[in-house]
Amino acid sequence: MRVRVRVPATSANLGPGFDALGLALALYNEVSASEADGVSVTLPGPSVGGLPTGSDNLVVRGVRMAYEAAARTFKGVALACVNRIPPARGLGSSAAAWVGGLVAGNALLGGPLSRDALLALAARAEGHPDNVAAALCGGLTVSCAESDGRVIAVSVPVPAALRWVVLVPELTNATAEARAVLPDAVSRADAVFNVQRVALLLAALQAQRMPALAAALVDRLHQPYRQRLFPWMPAVVDAARGAGALGCVLSGAGPSLLAAVNGEPEPVARAMENALANAGIPGAARAFAVDTEGALVLGDAR
Ligand code: HSE
Repeated sequence: MRVRVRVPATSANLGPGFDALGLALALYNEVSASEADGVSVTLPGPSVGGLPTGSDNLVVRGVRMAYEAAARTFKGVALACVNRIPPARGLGSSAAAWVGGLVAGNALLGGPLSRDALLALAARAEGHPDNVAAALCGGLTVSCAESDGRVIAVSVPVPAALRWVVLVPELTNATAEARAVLPDAVSRADAVFNVQRVALLLAALQAQRMPALAAALVDRLHQPYRQRLFPWMPAVVDAARGAGALGCVLSGAGPSLLAAVNGEPEPVARAMENALANAGIPGAARAFAVDTEGALVLGDAR
């Protein structure tokens, strides 16, 4: 049996929702998997140099994890992975790999693992739940990690009028490094600042009060610290807002940026590209629709 799985890119945090919010975007990786003796990975499609093609490949590890969680013997898997999500850019490529492997492994086994079980496994593998929850569930997903390893995830509607512009700089960033720059403790004032804004963000989206997003898409828990990795960020944020974006935030741990636009996205995309280019860094911006389905098993062929 061969199964095919599609997994969306995700933009985590949305500013104040550090490790809690993820937005699934209509940009997809695909995994085609069949049981095999031993492991093989082919990477058809866009070139993404440097990805492992052996047992250390994250998709393979996800498949194996599903087998182990279902107490089934893992003998190997033959994978073909079409990777459209650029790696190490803050668009959830590793989350998509874990989720793609887990969902493919579960499908090969006939689906013994629940969505909640897959989510807990993916969050443990990834280290934080926001990207994997949105990749699995789709939409704007709020995730909450419990101390016993369970993850409670709730997807909420996003106003269709909003457009999401993603600027992808031509440079990569390791999430571990972008987490290492964060302080262990923050002030109560900063914690309250973010609680207010993440609550406002969800309320404004629910009530379709777009102007409130300008105040909501601001963060004090991670972006100020990460700015030293991305010193050009304030100029791009200013350019995006100047071109009409409601707000512009770091996508996940960066370096990509995500802008929310209530109107024409093209001027915002061009302004972000130009501001980045003025800092001497090439990159491309484009608008994405929100993915509302999350990881999907597209079918199997026996
Ligand atoms: N919430 C995570 C972080 C997302 O900001 O470190 C990483 O993709």
